Amino acid sequence: MKHCCLIISFFISNLVSASESLSVTVPDTMEERVKACTICHSNKNRVGRDAYYPRIAGKPAGYLFNQMRNFRDGRRYYQPMAILLENMSDEYILEIARYFSSLQLSYPPPEKIGIRPEEIKLADSLIHLGDPGRDVPACKSCHGEALMGIKPFIPGLLGLSHAYISAQFGSWRNGGLMRGQNSNCMSEIAKRLTDEEINAIAKWLAIQTVSGEPSLPGALASEFSHRCSNIDPENMHSE
Ligand code: HEC
Ligand code: HEC
Repeated sequence: MKHCCLIISFFISNLVSASESLSVTVPDTMEERVKACTICHSNKNRVGRDAYYPRIAGKPAGYLFNQMRNFRDGRRYYQPMAILLENMSDEYILEIARYFSSLQLSYPPPEKIGIRPEEIKLADSLIHLGDPGRDVPACKSCHGEALMGIKPFIPGLLGLSHAYISAQFGSWRNGGLMRGQNSNCMSEIAKRLTDEEINAIAKWLAIQTVSGEPSLPGALASEFSHRCSNIDPENMHSE
């Protein structure tokens, strides 16, 4: 970690004040400026400890923008990122969000983890049908038919690791610092699911081969968008 932070502080000057930098050796392109980010958010290394770093390339821009502001403003907690984003304006964050959203990188192969047939059945049913009895909509009604997200605010669910997905559900259920200080549609859904269900869903998602693109905004029915307070078109003007 110490090593990692040293690298980050090395890059931080590029990122925060690239335009004022006197360095002539580093070209001032977005690709150079976001090197501080791709130390952790590359498309490789989805094993071991690194499995925790979520992929951000190709995710809808509004979602990335919202999350980066959450980290900056303390609504989602991960200190190395909070430090990097601390002094960035909304405009600059939006620029970075658009850069990563348009970045096309190949996806890592599906994770190699064991899943039992009952777990497949359980996950499949919640993801595609939901559980109306507990007011849990199908995941695909918000995350898109292909589970690749819906522009501009809803992230895809494929290409993420089992460890990352489970941890996010843990944060939504417990509230607190890591994610979801404010209650939203995901924290409500997470609280209605059992540990067994969450584990089955996280495994099922992590073993899929990724294909497809985020769906267009029209794919999100208003009955679902109304459930999520964080989907606010006012937050993003020209997407
Ligand atoms: C030291 C490693 C590290 C660095 C450097 C880093 N991140 Fe992250 N990032 C993470 C981790 C870990 C998470 C997940 C944290 C959590 O559990 O909520 C994350 C989450 C995110 C998310 C939310 C992803 C999602 O799917 O919800 C975005 C967006 C993001 N980072 C963007 C950036 C950008 C842009 C930079 C550069 C300014 C950056 N990160 C630098 C490790 C890092
Ligand atoms: C009513 C709409 C809705 C439904 C239904 C829904 N989600 Fe979500 N989900 C969202 C929104 C909105 C976000 C982004 C939250 C944010 O901005 O913090 C999200 C975020 C996520 C993320 C975070 C992805 C990342 O990159 O960090 C995961 C994982 C997730 N949802 C899993 C699921 C699963 C699994 C289901 C089905 C059990 C589900 N969702 C059902 C709206 C929904």
